[in-house]
Amino acid sequence: MIGDEREIAPRGIDVTTPHIARIYDYWLGGKDNYAADRAAAEQVMAATPTIKPGVTANRAFLSRVVRFMAGEGVTQFLDIGTGIPTADNTHLVAQAVNPASRVVYVDNDPIVLNHARALLSGVTAPTAFIDSDLRDTGRILDEAARLLDFDRPVALLLIAILHCVPDGDDPRGIIHTLMDSLAPGSFLAITHPGIDQLPEQMAAAEKALTKAMGFRVTFRTHEGVSRFFDGLDLLTPGVVPVQDWRPDPDAQPSATTGMWGGVARKP
Ligand SMILES: C[S@@+](CC[C@H](N)C(=O)[O-])C[C@H]1O[C@@H](n2cnc3c(N)ncnc32)[C@H](O)[C@@H]1O
Repeated sequence: MIGDEREIAPRGIDVTTPHIARIYDYWLGGKDNYAADRAAAEQVMAATPTIKPGVTANRAFLSRVVRFMAGEGVTQFLDIGTGIPTADNTHLVAQAVNPASRVVYVDNDPIVLNHARALLSGVTAPTAFIDSDLRDTGRILDEAARLLDFDRPVALLLIAILHCVPDGDDPRGIIHTLMDSLAPGSFLAITHPGIDQLPEQMAAAEKALTKAMGFRVTFRTHEGVSRFFDGLDLLTPGVVPVQDWRPDPDAQPSATTGMWGGVARKP
């Protein structure tokens, strides 16, 4: 049947099961999503009306943080949980500050991989994509080392991905393994849905997303997110709602979004 998404979907891609990257793309107003993704996204939105402003504020945090780090002289970025390309992707923001910035993207979603290949095909600046799970730190570090020099600072970006890693998979251990491999002066930036911001709405969103995704997502508290930065120098203003992390001077005051965000430097 013409218009049946199973026929127009890329070969090998299951579009009948909602996927986090495509749900997120729908919330950001993108076009790379399918009926199952939109239905799941709408279910979460019904439970949590702040979800759309939350993901928009999350993207704005990513841009501000990359601009900040590039301004601090960082020229190497490892962006794990890239998502489907949208406006202000990491390499665009970093390379606008310093065209020599090197960016390695990592994601485990074949749809993201397809888009990333298309996105990066015309890019002349040093940018690469690794098809890997965050939990496979050995593979990420081996492959990223082809483009990044681990003797110099690297900015590790874990933006809206850690809720996909349950406590049983040791997200703190994963972060420590990655940060241990990076040079002093490296940065870590994290955003994370907060179960203790707007508690009722976020509990409903966690439940709806878990049901839609078919695997458990884990929203965490301020304390839980802060502990991901253990051993690092947390920069001011600390772990805060993403819209409050060093907002642009002309930014309008924004309502609570449900997302925690923070940045730290490796001593
Ligand atoms: C909510 S999106 C965030 C996208 C982007 N970082 C942003 O904040 O705009 C989460 C991304 O993480 C990816 N992801 C989820 N679990 C992952 C894992 N275990 N390993 C690698 N990527 C993962 C998903 O495919 C998706 O692209």
